[in-house]
Amino acid sequence: MIHYHKLGDVPPKHHVTHKENGKMLMEQCMTRVAFKSTYSIIYYRTPPTDECKVRSMELPGFCPVVPIAEQLLHRRHLRTQDMQPTGDFLTGRRTLLMNADIQVGVCKIAQPAGKSWFTNGEGDECWFAYDCGGTLESVYGVQSFNKQDYILIPKGTPYRLHPDNDRGTFLVFESATSIDLPQQFRNESGQITMDAPYCHRDFHGPTELLSFDESRHGKPPYDWVVKFGNRLSVHEYEHFPWDVAGWDGVAYPVTFNILDYQPKTATIHLPPTSHITFAGRGFVICSFVPRKVDYYDKGEYKAIPCPYGHASVDCDEILYYVEGNFTSRKGIESQSISLHPMGVPHGPHPGTYATSVGAERTNELAVMCDTFKPLLLTKAADAIEDKDYHYTWVRRENTPMETSK
Ligand SMILES: [Fe+2]
Repeated sequence: MIHYHKLGDVPPKHHVTHKENGKMLMEQCMTRVAFKSTYSIIYYRTPPTDECKVRSMELPGFCPVVPIAEQLLHRRHLRTQDMQPTGDFLTGRRTLLMNADIQVGVCKIAQPAGKSWFTNGEGDECWFAYDCGGTLESVYGVQSFNKQDYILIPKGTPYRLHPDNDRGTFLVFESATSIDLPQQFRNESGQITMDAPYCHRDFHGPTELLSFDESRHGKPPYDWVVKFGNRLSVHEYEHFPWDVAGWDGVAYPVTFNILDYQPKTATIHLPPTSHITFAGRGFVICSFVPRKVDYYDKGEYKAIPCPYGHASVDCDEILYYVEGNFTSRKGIESQSISLHPMGVPHGPHPGTYATSVGAERTNELAVMCDTFKPLLLTKAADAIEDKDYHYTWVRRENTPMETSK
């Protein structure tokens, strides 16, 4: 997704014999958009196509998932900090918001990864590591990740995710298509442009090939759980199916730390989409990182760093608050998700707008996602919703009036 990478042994040309210790390896082309887009070519010691059994599976809260029926047009506040850790990287997943283009969930891991590997067969995933580092094992190899890393996992990738100490909280985006860098940050050759908010050096791929280890991977059979069409199927192998001798290409998991994002600052307030980081069909993912704020100052006219009220009539907007002061919102805490839907306006809470004048920096850290189709809540989201949030803009008798610094 980012740049060419290679691990292990590959032959000098595509689609030619490639042997290891005299035995022919099995070539697999992992392609995107049929055979027209980015791809990687993987060389297996045993073919990945000989599963001996396939069965269906359900994971409540993750798949299958449906939205709840009754959804008023409300601003929402989901208190994911109230969710209890449970399960592993697969069984602990809970989908909270969904539309046809993207699903957004949280995974709070409470135990070591089980034997099952997982693949999203339908779209790319983006995990955000809220509070932990760890290791990602995939068919492309092993790579570490750090706290507050985004982890981009291309669709079709078999993987397991291991937070350090087997505990950790993640925000998880599942695209129905791709999650990639916005086109405007690539030049005509695909290189990241010099005015992009990141560079190639900020993205990190697998550093070593997988090495089968029975103490870590277990004894046969090996289960591969594939999500496709809001269903899970379990493919059972009698051999370890991700025994890879080498691969090369452009499609593979990468990590990117949110603090490596270079924010833009201007004399007056920039729209939230100036923080764009990744994009897919029907959505963008943005990073709000600590930065200097707006500095227009001419006599009585000064910049207002707090966001203006807005009605993004074509977008639903969610924010996942990570750390720092969330100056425009009251009652919001770290791990809160706010959803401000299209159709009704939103803006800073009373008492936060004028008092921001004169501020020089913000230390807020948050992940935003704008979607072009409405997001619907799932049952898991309904269970953690702060039902009073929509009315927290209402001025009560004791609400302080706006006063400028
Ligand atoms: Fe907004």
